[in-house]
Formats: sequence, C-alpha cells, structure tokens
Amino acid sequence: MRPDESEMDLPEIEDIGSNPAPGEPIGALIESRLTRRAALRGLAGAGAAAALAEALVSEATAQPLPVPRSGGPSTLTFHEVPQGLSQTHQVADGYDVQMVIRWGDAVLRDAPPFNPHALTAESQAMQFGYNCDYLDYWPLPAGSRNSEHGLLCVNHEYTNTNLMFAGIGEGRAARGRTNREQAAVEIAAHGMSVVEVRKEGGVWRSVPGGRLNRRITMETPMRLSGPAAGHPRLRTNADPTGTRVLGTLNNCAGGNTPWGTVITAEENFNNYFGGAAAETGAEAANYKRYGVQRNATWAWGRFFDRFDLDKEPNEPNRFGWIVEFDPYDPESVPVKRTAMGRFKHEGATHAISADGRVAFYSGDDERFDYLYKFVTARPWNPNDRAANRDLLDDGTLHVAKFEERGVMRWLPLVFGEGPLTPANGFASQADVMIETRRAADLLGATPMDRPEDVETNPVNGRVYVMLTNNNRRTAQQVGPGNPRANNVHGHVVEVIPPGAGTGRVDHAATEARWEIFLMAGKPGMDAGARYHRATSDNGWLSCPDNVAFDSKGRIWISTDGGPENAGIADGIWAADTSGHGRALTRRFFQAPTGAEVCGPRFTPDDRTLFLAIQHPGEDVGSTFERPSTRWPDFREGEPPRPSVVAIVKRDGGEIGG
Ligand code: FEO
Ligand code: CA
Ligand code: CA
Ligand code: CA
Repeated sequence: MRPDESEMDLPEIEDIGSNPAPGEPIGALIESRLTRRAALRGLAGAGAAAALAEALVSEATAQPLPVPRSGGPSTLTFHEVPQGLSQTHQVADGYDVQMVIRWGDAVLRDAPPFNPHALTAESQAMQFGYNCDYLDYWPLPAGSRNSEHGLLCVNHEYTNTNLMFAGIGEGRAARGRTNREQAAVEIAAHGMSVVEVRKEGGVWRSVPGGRLNRRITMETPMRLSGPAAGHPRLRTNADPTGTRVLGTLNNCAGGNTPWGTVITAEENFNNYFGGAAAETGAEAANYKRYGVQRNATWAWGRFFDRFDLDKEPNEPNRFGWIVEFDPYDPESVPVKRTAMGRFKHEGATHAISADGRVAFYSGDDERFDYLYKFVTARPWNPNDRAANRDLLDDGTLHVAKFEERGVMRWLPLVFGEGPLTPANGFASQADVMIETRRAADLLGATPMDRPEDVETNPVNGRVYVMLTNNNRRTAQQVGPGNPRANNVHGHVVEVIPPGAGTGRVDHAATEARWEIFLMAGKPGMDAGARYHRATSDNGWLSCPDNVAFDSKGRIWISTDGGPENAGIADGIWAADTSGHGRALTRRFFQAPTGAEVCGPRFTPDDRTLFLAIQHPGEDVGSTFERPSTRWPDFREGEPPRPSVVAIVKRDGGEIGG
C-alpha cells in the first residue's frame, strides 16, 4: 500500500518514469503509457468502469508481444509471460494457478457462506479477511518439511471500501463514508488468518474449520512487551496499564523466527486515527513525523472511541510495532515487541548470525525513511523452544547509514548514546522506541527510496532490500544506496554482511558492504535502468515490493506499481543472483488488473509457490457495482476478491526448473 496518498488518484503526467539521459529518445513505451493514462482518465471521468475493463482486455489481446524462449544464460527454464494487462492472471506456460482461499471464504467452523450483498462483522470475523499481503507456510506436523499439508498465515493489510460495499462510490474517499456496521465489517476484515491447507490429487485447497485455524482481527487481545510496555505514553482509558491492546493494524509484510513463530508488521497505522489532538495534543510532534492527521482516512473514529484522538490521544502509540505469535497454538496471545522499534514496518525477516544471535531486517516504507536491523542480545536456543519466548524483548535496534565506496554502517538506537539523550527529548529507551524515526533522524541515517521487503538469500548470505520508488528525490539528494533522482521505478540493493558466502555470516556486525543488484525501469528507456544485458522486453520490472528466494538462491520479486504505472501490470519476476544469469530478470506471473502480488512463499520442496493477490480491481473509477475486474470468479453482480493462489508446475517439478 502506498504510504500517504490515494491508490486511486493518478499522479501528474510529470511523475511518469521517463527521465531519459540526454540524447536518448523517450520512445514508444512512454508514449504508450501516456496514451494509456489518458484513456484511463477519460474512462474514469465518464464513470465507465466496464468500458475500462473492456479496454484492458482488448489492449492485452490486441498487442500480443513475442514470447521469448528461456533467456540467455539464466538457470530459469520457463518461457516469459509477455508484458500486458488483463482482467485475469497469467502464468508461464506449463504452470497451473490453483485457488486456495478468497476473501469471505470460511476460516472458522461456523462461518456462513460468503454473501457480498450482506456483509456482517460477525461473519467476517470467521471468514478470510480482505487484502491478503504477507503469507507464510508452516508444515504440519510442526517441525516437519511436509510440502503438501500445512498452515498458511496471511496478513490482511487494509480494505478497499469502494469494492466491498454497494452504493459507497469510488476511490479512497469511500473509506470515509462507511456507517457503523460497515466500519465494523472493515475492522473484522483487517488482521490475519491462519488456515490449514492441503494438497490432494495434485490440487491445493483450504480446510475450513481446521483445528488450528484462527482469525486475528482489530479486536483480538494482544500484549505489549519490551522497553515501551507500560509506559505512560501507551496508556489509554481502556488500558490504564499500557500493556494490553486490541488488535493489529495495516499488517503489510512479515516474517518468522527460527523458533517457529510468526512475525507480522504494522505499516500505515496512521491513517485510521484522527482528531484535533493530532495537531494540538502532547503527541503532536510525534504524530506529525508518522503522518497521523486531524482527518483520518477511515471513518472508524466516528463510531469507536479508540480511533478518536480527542478521546484516546495515546492509541496510535500502540501501533506501528512488530507482532509475534505462535501459529500452532490458536489460543496464543500475540505480543507487540517494542524493542524492535515503532515505524511503518513493511515486514521483518530474520537471519541467523554465526554466533547464534538473530538479526531481523525491517524497512520503514515511506519516502526518505530508513532501513533497520534488530539484533537479539542472546543467541537463540535450538534445543529449547520455550527459552526463546522473550528473545525479542532484549536486543539492539540499528539503522542503516550508506557510505561511498560500497561501505555501510549500522548505527545503534540506544538511549543515552550520541544524541539520544534528555537534551533531545528522550527520557528513556521507551521514548527512543516510541519515536524511532526521530531518533534515527538524529543519528544521521540514510533516507531511502521507500524500503519494502528485505530478505536474506539462503545461499550467498547477502541481504536484498527492495526499494520500491521515490518520485520526490531530487538530483541534489542522490547519494550512496539511492543513486537516482525521480526514482519512480525503484531498485534493489544487496547488503553484504561480513562472511557472506562463507557459511559464517556475521549479521550482528555494525559494518557491511553494499552493491546495487538492479535498477528498475525499462532498459534503454528509463535513465539508469540496469539489469543483465540479456534481459528481454518482458523481463524488466517496476516497483519491487516483496521478495522470496527458492532453495537454489534465485530471487523472486513481486511488484506494486500502482495506478501511476498504468499500462504495466504487477507480477512476479525471477532471476539468478550469481553466475552468468545474475540479475537477468524474467517475467513469470501477471496479476489481474489493479492487483499487486504479495507473499511470495515457496513450500520447502520448491514445488509450490503461494502468492497473495492483493486489491484486484483497485483501478481508477472502480466500484462495487462496476469494478474493473471481477477476478477470480467473474460472477455478475459480485465484486473482485483478494485471494491466495498456489502455483504448481504441471509436471510436478520445482518452480522455475
Ligand atoms: Fe504495504 Fe509498503 O506496502
Ligand atoms: Ca498496494
Ligand atoms: Ca507497496
Ligand atoms: Ca508491501
């Protein structure tokens, strides 16, 4: 999700990713983008979503591009999916896309059948939530590597109110128009789902009412722990202890721990809270830094006091954290780990350091915000799961500073060190964690181009940072780690910890090296775009967001370009990370119109790739009545449904070959 602006508003034409080097032709692609955007505007203005949908389909079919064969030196054997747009998904030949679970499908045993014309909060709290993002696969039984039976843990990041309710209009503004009952449905549609899944006869399906199935919503009781727990700035009328909180919000990506728990990340929590106190209250400066404003995007504060800052001025301080829970225990109480900092966590993924301590890498997804790493104080204990229970309460959060010549440093955010003192308004480590962003500002961290997912390659030990875009970086602001002005297509940075590639990687170190893995955009068209030179016309990508590695160490990148990249569907691209095919990205999967692809997640045997298809139909002019797509069911009168799909190779082989 974009941090601070409407997904539905097209930016100005000037924002388009052209910025060609002097003498380079702007070229046909930009022209086609302009034409495409003009068409979208015209159609949206006319309110003709159906016509838009038709246009999308005909465009996709009218301009077939040649399908290249397995490209050059890549180890990936699939034939690329041609660039295009369509109402439904596309996958490389020889692969099947299987539906696993859709918004509204039963998770808990008593869930009623999905009825998009009569949504209730009670039903939604038992059904699969909206806008699936992060997903993880946990084999059953626990501790096995079973790749045909397990639990899917899935985030539900936010709601597309305009596609959930009839008569509510289009775009982001619809979120401000809900009544109390609709707001309650949205509250139940956020959070997470844990759902048992099974592959039988080669086909994946979910198990409604599975014994370990669980819905976590914005009303699930949780605990706060770590340095900020119980602090007066976290206390509310409903929770005078500052240690108990209901729910988790805007869960974007996530991760897991070596001791078998789920990590889920609270991202754009700011949009749900509003009130005059955002500007006049004791927390005004803190809230300004996080984008909490007088006017909330969602209408919840009109009906439920805790979203109204004038009634509960501290509630936003209880969000923006990393949440940990045990997927194998449906009764377990999720814990917000305040030692890992408070910001717009895109996700948090772990890497085990040579000495057994565990590092968690996490991006703060906002233009000019930072890349972080939390390192546990103690090694994890592989022989005693209970000994790791509170490992995330004790450790050091660091923020990244990129320097010239491929060097970088990790700066610790520790109360009393450097500028993090009472002179700058920090009275304790609790304050440093509650205002992580301001603490990082004072340390001189490197402002990044919207850091999204960060994952460590299991083969080479390098850490891959998806920098999705930043259309506000000026030529004067380019620097180490962020080399491009008006970076509308984003890039991927490799962080290389000491020992990477040796089997004894030091993820706890405070120094590392860095390299650019790729600069997104179309080679020869978008200035600075850089991949392997054999990358095809279909192999270039825009706005890297989520990432996964297969067990061969190949990278699988999903994109979230949004409507500003109209004309380029989001999807999945894969590449080798070493050898002759390094950074030779190849297009594997195309999302239905309006959707981004999240996850991605492989089963341990690499024979299934789970993908979350988020916000299908999030296009200009799209409404419940006239959505730009009705994916995946294409049932007349019904809206699109965010869903998790499983990709398998038809011959049963490993994904990617
Ligand atoms: Fe929720 Fe940063 O994407
Ligand atoms: Ca998005
Ligand atoms: Ca995104
Ligand atoms: Ca994301």
